[in-house]
Amino acid sequence: MFDPQEFVEEMLPQLRDSIKGKAIIACSGGVDSTVAAVLVSKAIGERLLTVYVDTGLMRKGETAAVDKMLSRLKVNHKIVDASDEFFDALKGVVDPERKRKIIGERFIRVFEREAKHFHAEYLVQGTIAPDWIESGDATRDTIKSHHNVGGLPEDIKLKLVEPLRDLYKDEVRKMARHLGVEVSERQPFPGPALAIRIMGPVTREDADIVREACDIVEEELEKAAKEGRMELPWQYFAVLLPVQSVGVHGDNRVYGKTIAIRAVQSIDGMSAAYSKVPHEVLEHISVRITNEMKRNVNRVVYDITNKPPATIEWE
Ligand code: XMP
Repeated sequence: MFDPQEFVEEMLPQLRDSIKGKAIIACSGGVDSTVAAVLVSKAIGERLLTVYVDTGLMRKGETAAVDKMLSRLKVNHKIVDASDEFFDALKGVVDPERKRKIIGERFIRVFEREAKHFHAEYLVQGTIAPDWIESGDATRDTIKSHHNVGGLPEDIKLKLVEPLRDLYKDEVRKMARHLGVEVSERQPFPGPALAIRIMGPVTREDADIVREACDIVEEELEKAAKEGRMELPWQYFAVLLPVQSVGVHGDNRVYGKTIAIRAVQSIDGMSAAYSKVPHEVLEHISVRITNEMKRNVNRVVYDITNKPPATIEWE
């Protein structure tokens, strides 16, 4: 039986022995990276810098929630608002794969800069057993010079520390409970974040619109599921379409944007069936979106496509 207290007692001296200088970790607020950050921070305190990169494309309230959690856990951390850089880099980009590439590269650039500023010599990662077992790299030590980890450039020359590399997900969750890390029960969220829920070029304004719409979809479906009116879908969100249509506001004709609601049932995301969300729940979401966002959005549609042939995300 895995005992989190025993694991911590074993790990702390090992980490103190092996990390001689400063270390850095990128934390998304997910369970693996947060547990790794808290554990290493217990071992070396302020010599660990935990970096959360705010791309401007995160879900509503996410950055503030991660900041609050890391403060509560007394982890030396920095919230880097890199949103201008991300929006600049994404300017005019429409192709989904290019969006993904730009976001990945930009993230590395920002993180690399922080590592240099902090004079970090070690890179902590929240890698867990299934991550390396799947990639067939079973010979790595807990601490070893890294080779292009997660796309970081070779010349960054950080030594890799992976304190959770022998743990499985349920053990990491036990560690999270033990260390007081709130495990988010939020649905899966893609790495490129809201950028792939904005069809067409990504702008700050459109990110604000889709973020708000995603939040309304989340709130209403979670409420309906809690009240037993429907089963909570596996994933549910809003997509901003590059389509404008005519509507009316009072006596005025408006030409506004369109939001698509996507909600699916799935086991692992490989295939999915669109959720049969009750019409009154959909109607309520539509009324909320068009009322609360009336300056921008005047039409809401529901996506009734399974995967395959569609994917879950629209990009
Ligand atoms: P699709 O859209 O391919 O998505 O049916 C399947 C699942 O993967 C998520 N997804 C991503 N996750 N980086 C990620 O980390 C990505 O680029 C990415 N694209 C899709 C998607 O949200 C769904 O849960």
